[in-house]
Amino acid sequence: MSSSSASSSLSPIITTATKALSPILDTFTAVLAKYPPLTKTHTNYGVGVRTAYPASPARDALKKGETPEPYSPVYHVADVVISSAWAPGKPPAQSWADPECNDIEAEVAAQVAAGRKRVMPYGLSLTDLSFNRVNGFPVNPMGLTGITGRGELGLWGPNPAADPIIFRMINTMLCVLLIQRADGTKQWAFPGGMVDPTDPTISATAVRELKEETGFSVEDLSQYSLDPVYNGYVDDARNTDNSWMETNAYAWFLTDDVPSNKIKLSEGGDGEETLAAKWVPVTPDLLEDGRLFASHAAILRGAVGKLIQLAA
Ligand code: BGC
Repeated sequence: MSSSSASSSLSPIITTATKALSPILDTFTAVLAKYPPLTKTHTNYGVGVRTAYPASPARDALKKGETPEPYSPVYHVADVVISSAWAPGKPPAQSWADPECNDIEAEVAAQVAAGRKRVMPYGLSLTDLSFNRVNGFPVNPMGLTGITGRGELGLWGPNPAADPIIFRMINTMLCVLLIQRADGTKQWAFPGGMVDPTDPTISATAVRELKEETGFSVEDLSQYSLDPVYNGYVDDARNTDNSWMETNAYAWFLTDDVPSNKIKLSEGGDGEETLAAKWVPVTPDLLEDGRLFASHAAILRGAVGKLIQLAA
């Protein structure tokens, strides 16, 4: 696409964004200025895991901001992770996790040899083990969690997810499409999910999850795209010292020409992963840390920052 056609397809978005943001620009800018771009350390030791993680004095100390000396984390792997371990010939839906192993490099080599498609964030290939490792195990780049092993996460190292951020104006209010998660957190979140090895691209994961979790459908979403707004670590309570979530968040801004009846939300969510789906007004309060699942408030701040840049 030439740059002129790119900018002409963006101009309705810019017009809508300007209209949406001008009355509230100062308030939003003040909230955004309060926070650094994204927390750089792991801070989420809290609630929110589907199955309770075992008690860990090291985790308790970290939660209080102390440095546990000596550091004695508790090893944990959820039963569902064990029973969903990949093995040659197992159907993909029952083999989304890695097996327990002693050395991730040897394990990945064995999986490659057996033809497993194992997804990594940002299109890294199966064999790209560019994260730090100690004694053969991946090391959480954002610090200690008090738990070793994979907890509830399937893959050793980064576990890739994708998140769609859909904005639209409703009665002069800037709104974002959110779901209430059905997991232990019951928190409001973007309608995202884990990258599936059969997804052709990571943005396709975002679109697939959007449809699955909210019933949302707009024929050609691509013309409303604001492109990726974040990729990297998510401060998720499931993270451990050896496994962590990384997401790729994409934003779309639906302009006023998208009739609201084109957007069909399944009110009760999908009943499995989501309890509800709705348009939520983007208030300064919603952008504060802790209001949304994991670091979604921080990611939303990034997306609103992008809108502010467009509207400026
Ligand atoms: C969620 C995503 C989230 C990711 C990282 C997934 O379970 O569906 O929305 O960004 O976890 O925490």
